[in-house]
Amino acid sequence: KNKKIIFRNSPCVVTLKGWDSAENDSLSQKGLSVLKNCDILISDGVFIDIGENLLDTHGNLGDIEIIDASKYVIVPGMIDCHNHPIFAGSRANETVLKSQGMTYEDISAKGGGIVSTMKATRKVTGHELSELYKLNAKDSLARGVVLLEAKTGYGLNPLQERKMLEALYEAHSGKDAMDLPHLCPTYLGPHAASPEYRGLDNYIQALVEDLPNIAALGEEAVKKGIAFPLAADIFLERNYFTKEQSERWLGAALQHGLDVHIHADEFSRSGGAELAAELARRLEQTASKRRKKGRVLTVDHCQYATESDLGRLAVLGVGAVALPTTSFFSKIPYVDAKRWRASGIKVAIGTDFNPGSSPMNNIWFSSYLALSQCGFSLAEVIAGVTINAAFALGLEKTYGSIEIGKKASLVAFDGASVEDYFSSLLGDHVRHVVV
Ligand code: NIG
Ligand code: FE
Repeated sequence: KNKKIIFRNSPCVVTLKGWDSAENDSLSQKGLSVLKNCDILISDGVFIDIGENLLDTHGNLGDIEIIDASKYVIVPGMIDCHNHPIFAGSRANETVLKSQGMTYEDISAKGGGIVSTMKATRKVTGHELSELYKLNAKDSLARGVVLLEAKTGYGLNPLQERKMLEALYEAHSGKDAMDLPHLCPTYLGPHAASPEYRGLDNYIQALVEDLPNIAALGEEAVKKGIAFPLAADIFLERNYFTKEQSERWLGAALQHGLDVHIHADEFSRSGGAELAAELARRLEQTASKRRKKGRVLTVDHCQYATESDLGRLAVLGVGAVALPTTSFFSKIPYVDAKRWRASGIKVAIGTDFNPGSSPMNNIWFSSYLALSQCGFSLAEVIAGVTINAAFALGLEKTYGSIEIGKKASLVAFDGASVEDYFSSLLGDHVRHVVV
């Protein structure tokens, strides 16, 4: 804020401007809209100008920080649109169990998994939780993530879930907020069964009853300017929540004006993508009558969603989030880029960072797996962690591309060409991050 910065003479600025246009071919690099020998001028947190020799064009710019970008590739600030960064405890033992042949579902059935993180999370205070979250969020930022989606989901009753949400807001209220990516919070109360409620239906009922309070908390945080609007999510999967329970929860959330995501079709074709289509279609039909408008933003995971499941969602403007790091660590199938591409769906890529199924908070490694294991193109991968991830959070007007007038966020890393995105698979080549 209140600062002028110029990045000078980058050999490769990947702007993503017009990514959504009709001529864009996701397999070529055209859609990335790359500019060469390019300066970027930022003032008061906004992109003021983008082009060659801006110091000449603009004359006296007064007090300005000049950064020599001649050895940097520049991409829009990255967005991790699926992350579980707030939790306590460790599940490193599960890494060992998986190496011995146990699956994620086996481990959960034996009391590990989400429930074990719930126990550790309940033991700490909200303040301690907030401090733990900050460590993870700072890691994200250091690697170029300027907007971080953060799910609750380890409290598993209304009180403890609220503690998680308040801890997120606490982190973004203090002076440390400057060192964190911007926050896009998601309420994931229905992440697993709650020990306090007999049966999942009763837990859903309790969560639905608490929704007005949760939505109000979200609105207050937006008013204070510490977070973007709160969304809702659910784990729709065999042995977790059913399609009917999910419909009840997400339907209530939409009515309260919350946008929604679904953990869908990860271990089986459990109906998550189908439900997203039903909800989105219903919203379309009732759009004009609604005052508050929640949207169905994304279905996430989707290894078992079919091409036509995804195709139906594409038409309705719902996006899909690929989470290949989970496939890597939990030894489950990767999504197939060919099928996703053929469906026409907008593809975002997230880390799914969490202490169990995907214990690595690194958007670069997720990008690499999306390229090498799922088969997404270089252009699709970069769009997947920038402009399409912004769409996944409903924030594409503010984030995801380098365009005059847009809020300024960018990542500069060592390199000279677009391919250098992959010259470090862990993002060790990041040199500057502008939030
Ligand atoms: O996205 N699939 C459900 N939730 C998480 C796992 C969370 C956990 O194991 O703690 C996921 O992979
Ligand atoms: Fe997840």
